[in-house]
Formats: sequence, C-alpha cells, structure tokens
Amino acid sequence: MPTTRRYLMCAPRYFEVAYSINPWMDPSKPVNHDLVMRQWQTLRDTYVELGHKVEQIDPQPGLPDMVFSANSATVIDGRVLGARFRAEQRAAEADHYRRWFNENGYHNVVMPTCINEAEGDFAWTGRYLLAGTGFRTDPGAHAEAQEVLGVPVVSLHLTDPRYYHLDTALFVLNEDEPNIAYYPEAFSEGSRRVLRRLFPDAVIATAHDAETFGLNAVSDGRNVILPTESTGLAAQLTDRGYEPIFVDISELKKSGGGPKCCTMEIRG
Ligand code: ARG
Repeated sequence: MPTTRRYLMCAPRYFEVAYSINPWMDPSKPVNHDLVMRQWQTLRDTYVELGHKVEQIDPQPGLPDMVFSANSATVIDGRVLGARFRAEQRAAEADHYRRWFNENGYHNVVMPTCINEAEGDFAWTGRYLLAGTGFRTDPGAHAEAQEVLGVPVVSLHLTDPRYYHLDTALFVLNEDEPNIAYYPEAFSEGSRRVLRRLFPDAVIATAHDAETFGLNAVSDGRNVILPTESTGLAAQLTDRGYEPIFVDISELKKSGGGPKCCTMEIRG
C-alpha cells in the first residue's frame, strides 16, 4: 500500500555539466536547459498528483549539482544528519541544505565529520539503513549515521564506478515488509551475500535496468517512479503488484542522476 511521503527538491535552474566527478559526466556534451526544467517539473508534479508533499529549496548559482537533493541530508524520525561531499565542487551545497532544515523547524541538524553523501549512499528500509561505500561516502560515515540517527546500519561495498552511489544500484520498494530491487553486479561478493540473506525475495535488476538508471527509482510502497527506458524492471514490478510510472530523465542522466537523486525524503 502506498504511504504519503514528504520530499525536498531543488529546481535545476543552474544545472549544467561543468565538471566530471562520475563516469556519466561529459562536460563537452550540451545539456538542454529548458528540457531539464520540464523533466524536473514533471517529476515534481507526479509526486504531487500521487498525494505526496513536495518542499523546495532555492537553487544557488555556481552549484550545478544542487538539483540532486538526495545527497544533502538523511532524515529518519525527525533526526537530520547533514552531508559532507567528496568533491570540492559540491562542498557548498551541504550548508545550504543545513540552513533549509534550520529554517524549517529542525534545530538539531548534525553535520558529519566523515564524507557522507546522504541518501546517495543511504537507503532506509524501515528496519535498517543500507549504507554504500567504495566511491563517495566514507565507511566511517556509516558508524556516524548509526550513532546520530539511532538506526542499525548495514555496510555495502560498491565496486563499479558507473554505480558510484548506492542509489544508482539499489532502491527500497516497500518498508512494511522490507524489500528492495538491486543490481548485484554493482556490489562486492560479500555484499551480494549480505543482500541475498536480508532480501531473499528481492527484485533482481539486469545490466540494462541499471544502465538506464532504473535503480534510481522512488517508491511510495506501491507507485514506483522510474526512467522511461527501464521497461524490463517495470515489468518485474508490475508482476509483483507495483505500479510503475515512467519519467524522462535524459538531461539529468548527463550528470549521472535520475529520479531518486532529485528527491530527498523527509521522514518525520
Ligand atoms: N553529478 C552528481 C555527482 O556526481 C550526481 C549525483 C547524483 N545523485 C545521487 N543521489 N546519486 O555527485
């Protein structure tokens, strides 16, 4: 069953691919600015139509990746753990988001000491926090998240540079009876065993699903927002009783982003 969510998003007003910090980013390839604004607006409108609440933070000039709000905080039960970016180019985003939380009634935002790219590498299943490392988030941030958020953390190792954030290789389908979809090849051998043990009934994505950013999906427990090209994954989801909803993310993908990257969930 779907549950109503509260999301924080940031319009891609200053979006561009000005630098390259993941294998998808090629600054020589043009980005269509009007198109990225429309794609983002459609994503936002889709959430609103589904009954979710969407908050917005003002985009800042000079921070082209600020649209990827998922990277800037992890919020569980009203506790907010901020971010600390690996790339210098994104560092200033963390403080803009910290300020947004302060101004919106969250006065105890904890800023991490370890590199922590928030929901880029953290996925809340309702029982534990799955935490990625290997490219961005420091393993020390996993222990920090456990302490600050008071939730059990399960560390997972990412091994394929194309899937540099956990949310490019895995997403949570449902929190009541926690289940996930993931692309096993993006993980180390040990992490694959951990995932098989925790989620024997998981949806297993193909290379095509992963390449089309199908794992960068957002589920409310029933509706799953995912990229238009991820048709195989969508068919598997339909078989399981989920409702796939396609969105076009062609421009966001030029920066290595998709629906989930643009969507931070505020839990409580
Ligand atoms: N260009 C951004 C970066 O490399 C994309 C971030 C995508 N966000 C995400 N949650 N995976 O940092």
